[in-house]
Amino acid sequence: MLAADVKDARSGSELVKIDKSNIMQLKLLNASILPIHYTPKFYQYVLQNPNCSRLAMWCGKYVGMVCCKVDSNILYIMTLGCLVLYRRKKIGTKLLNFVLDLSKAEKCTAVQLHVQSSNSDAVEFYEKFGFCVKDNIDNYYRYLKPTSALLLERLIVPSNSEQQVIVTSGDGGMDPIEEKLVELSSDK
Ligand SMILES: CC(C)(COP(=O)(O)OP(=O)(O)OC[C@H]1O[C@@H](n2cnc3c(N)ncnc32)[C@H](O)[C@@H]1OP(=O)(O)O)[C@@H](O)C(=O)NCCC(=O)NCCS
Repeated sequence: MLAADVKDARSGSELVKIDKSNIMQLKLLNASILPIHYTPKFYQYVLQNPNCSRLAMWCGKYVGMVCCKVDSNILYIMTLGCLVLYRRKKIGTKLLNFVLDLSKAEKCTAVQLHVQSSNSDAVEFYEKFGFCVKDNIDNYYRYLKPTSALLLERLIVPSNSEQQVIVTSGDGGMDPIEEKLVELSSDK
């Protein structure tokens, strides 16, 4: 069990695994929170990789979600968010702590995600947790305005004691995991 799976008295939220019984909740949350349509293949991937995703609950209600994938030692956040009414209650923090725990367990070297370049709320949230802008990609989203995306990254350096945050500058290179995501989301 990852540390983030334990109910956190400070945030009042708890994380639960995703299975067939609650996958519809994930679909509803994705549709409510994110502007991208996710394909059946995405949900199939989530069900087949139960350790990489969680739903967040607040007082018995499903309010947030995170779905990741691990590829080539990179943990990629496909979706992470919570309902508008439940924001600034540390639910995003709890979901992100789950991701960071998972990156440690999977011995990943970095955590990455894309956000729409206009999504300053998300950028501020991730920067608070040591993420940096690695790349700025024009025309990443086909159906969104703006179409540009930021690739955010937090490097993970395993040590005997704690993970360290390393600040990097972007190298402009394309990431192989981006291409895999094209299969899972209908907007890229
Ligand atoms: C980004 C998001 C997940 C943050 O979730 P949240 O539960 O509100 O975040 P938390 O309460 O854990 O916030 C932790 C800290 O992040 C920062 N932060 C969070 N939201 C912020 C905002 N809108 N503006 C500035 N800073 C913000 C703050 O420092 C905050 O600490 P504080 O509340 O003590 O000031 C949420 O806004 C969201 O769901 N957005 C829509 C989905 C999305 O854009 N996802 C990202 C792409 S996958």
